[in-house]
Amino acid sequence: MTTTTTGSKPERDALSSTTVRVPSTPSLDVARVRADFPILGRTVNGRPLVYLDNAATTQCPDAVIDAMSDFYRCCNANVHRGVHTLSQEATEAYEGARAKVAHFLNADAKASIIFTRNTTESINLVAHAWGRRHLRNGDEILLSVIEHHSNLVPWQMLAQEVGCRLRFIDIDESGHLRLDQLDQVLTSRTRLVAISHVSNVLGTVNPIPTIACAARAVGAKVLVDGAQGVPHGPVDVQALDADFYAYSPHKALGPLGIGVLWVRRDILEEMDPFLGGGEMIRDVTLERSTWAPAPAKFEAGTPSVADAVGLGASIDYLESLGMDEIRQHEVRINAYLLERLRELPFLALYGPEDPSDRCGLVAFNDHQIHAHDLGTILDQHGIAIRAGHHCAKPLMRRLGVMATARASFYVYNDVDEVDTLVDALLAARKVFGLST
Ligand code: ALA
Repeated sequence: MTTTTTGSKPERDALSSTTVRVPSTPSLDVARVRADFPILGRTVNGRPLVYLDNAATTQCPDAVIDAMSDFYRCCNANVHRGVHTLSQEATEAYEGARAKVAHFLNADAKASIIFTRNTTESINLVAHAWGRRHLRNGDEILLSVIEHHSNLVPWQMLAQEVGCRLRFIDIDESGHLRLDQLDQVLTSRTRLVAISHVSNVLGTVNPIPTIACAARAVGAKVLVDGAQGVPHGPVDVQALDADFYAYSPHKALGPLGIGVLWVRRDILEEMDPFLGGGEMIRDVTLERSTWAPAPAKFEAGTPSVADAVGLGASIDYLESLGMDEIRQHEVRINAYLLERLRELPFLALYGPEDPSDRCGLVAFNDHQIHAHDLGTILDQHGIAIRAGHHCAKPLMRRLGVMATARASFYVYNDVDEVDTLVDALLAARKVFGLST
């Protein structure tokens, strides 16, 4: 496996850089971007689609759809298995996608990029392949109260299996992690700190380098759940000083069905396989097997090749827009969204007040309308939002709510859609005979 040359270590975590201020002029040509997304031309319930559920799944541009369709039309074959031309072309396409991801994340090696099904599977892979080998009775894993179930349940399962203890960092009233608690919750028993890069409910961008520095001081490894990180700005896994970083390309204009796990190169050898089967072996006898080097060791079975090709195309597309420009675009939308929602006295908003502290999503509740009812009424207006517990039930309990509504924005959304959302929120009040 070739090693990617990564250059010198960057000095900052650009996603959470405090240098991002609300831009006065647009950083993206949204009308031009929208033209690349065929689904945005459709209507829902007779209205133009206003797609504000991007934190759940983003839409694919033509470039991604075409890349996947071209793969099936021109070089569909299994990878790493055939000497024939189609198999070689498919292998080149698959490994080419891996190289793009490695470059995109500034990974320390191409072999450090493992393809999975999604962020959830990536985190489960670490729990099984690294956690089972390294954690023992009495060890501790540090999490936070904002974690998505995907960065909570695998650690609960591991803790039950090996007898380790889970500890948690709380949030303050503004939705930031209580970093002042790190001294108490990090101990000489902490083996792993597993934290989301960005909260999928509060939108808060967490200061991963600061947390990683504290984790290193007690000898703990750091896993970052980047499902809501990678889509929203430049992510450099080496600058974050993490050991594991997971994300789901379908939240960043890529296809459903493929996930990414980056593992720091020097840890790969300290991990056991996750799944057993074809392609992950060096040799097999009837009684036992030995393992192929990474990443094959962690990719048993036929991989999702077309999805990897689509992922590669999504990275090309994101880079053509510019990740800094995407970050600025979201901060600009956040600023307007927060300003407009704050005008509505019947709403509770969750998460940081400063638009620069968050990614392009806002969770909110109408004090008198259940989030599910709100979601259903907005759908009648052609507006797609998410309503519910957002796979973050402990955070819902911490906030003292059962559910919230959540509007999440991406590269093809603009401030006029904020206005459409606000109009629909006012209309929902009228449906229930409530004052506006
Ligand atoms: N994790 C995704 C969300 O927050 C599904 O909506």
